[in-house]
Amino acid sequence: MKTRTISAIIAMIILVSTNVSARETLAKATKGKFLMGVAINMQQVNGVNPVESDLIANEFSAVVAENCMKPQPTHPQENKYVWDDADKFVAFGEKNKQTVTGHCLIWHSQIGRWMFVNDSGKDVSPEVLKERMRQHIYAVVGRYKGRVKGWDVVNEAFEDNGTYRKSKFYQILGKDFIKYAFQFAHEADPNAELYYNDYNVETPAKCDAIVQLVKELKAAGCRIDAVGSQSHMHMVNPTLEATETSFKKLKAAGVHILITEWDVSILPSPYDGANISASFKYSKEMDPYRDGVPADVQQKWNKRVLDMFGLFLKYSDVVDRVTVWGLNDAGTWLNGFPIRGRMDYPVLFDRKNQRKSVVDEMIKMAQKTKVKK
Ligand code: G3I
Repeated sequence: MKTRTISAIIAMIILVSTNVSARETLAKATKGKFLMGVAINMQQVNGVNPVESDLIANEFSAVVAENCMKPQPTHPQENKYVWDDADKFVAFGEKNKQTVTGHCLIWHSQIGRWMFVNDSGKDVSPEVLKERMRQHIYAVVGRYKGRVKGWDVVNEAFEDNGTYRKSKFYQILGKDFIKYAFQFAHEADPNAELYYNDYNVETPAKCDAIVQLVKELKAAGCRIDAVGSQSHMHMVNPTLEATETSFKKLKAAGVHILITEWDVSILPSPYDGANISASFKYSKEMDPYRDGVPADVQQKWNKRVLDMFGLFLKYSDVVDRVTVWGLNDAGTWLNGFPIRGRMDYPVLFDRKNQRKSVVDEMIKMAQKTKVKK
């Protein structure tokens, strides 16, 4: 009997034996409230481990690519586009009748240096950078026109203190690079939803800066449908209060809200946030759960997840999607960040692709919640 058939049978046995309520899924329970999404990698798209690909297809109503749609992988050199992985990812989502989100068009990280420099390595002029942005956005958004529901047009343009991040985009074009990006994305696919995405959106100064940006984009006649709050959380921060305050501010600014990269690190945090450039030294104290999570700590984590999920449901009139940043604990970026080589447990499926008990609690909570849209 072929390996694929054997592992598919094993997948089915695992699903049936361990999850009595396997028929009930987060995707079903949140229907009409918000989309339930997951960030996926190319191994999962390519079905390297069918158990994972099946779980993704069954449990979630939306997918986003963890890496393959970013500027670096899709546009490594000025005249070179690479579409294989992104094509497969979009086809994977379509095959599973899931909503596909594009992440991300303009970001200071995972982008080719060529975007900003001329042949002699000097910064290009504002006109050249603007034109390169237009070509990139037209190419990527144009290729998946009508197949991608919405795009993270600009990612992480602010510091936590509310000032603009001094990225190459900002240095060369000033804050208008954001307006140009939204204009180009709308021109490339007028029906696509457009989002501004960032981490630590719960931080008051950053949230106020994002609200100001929303107002300026709307005043400039730009389409912006929602703000993506990445929601890379720890056991304490952000607080429920700070998160709810940010929801109220964004709702009042007339945009919807997306939870775009939700994970809850169970490990001690050397600091808060997802600033990709930070890193800290490994120590046993900072990696206390290599042999598993003690029951009392697991309980605290479950409560933290349910408290936040409850808040998302409370605002499901404006929260359109809740995406978890990775399927299982084995594949999470948090095993390598901000301290390399740790063992974290931040998402909804464990290292054996078992549904964590909190998922059944989330399903019950969603089932009890009235549709508000
Ligand atoms: O693809 C190359 C591979 O060819 C090479 O052999 C390997 C060895 O270094 O690297 C692979 O690239 C890695 C890529 O993930 C794909 O796996 C990069 O090194 C690695 O840095 C990259 O990490 C991603 C990170 O963004 C990069 O900034 C994480 O998987 C991804 O989870 C993370 O996601 C970001 C969001 O896009 C934005 N918000 C924060 C979030 C977490 O940092």
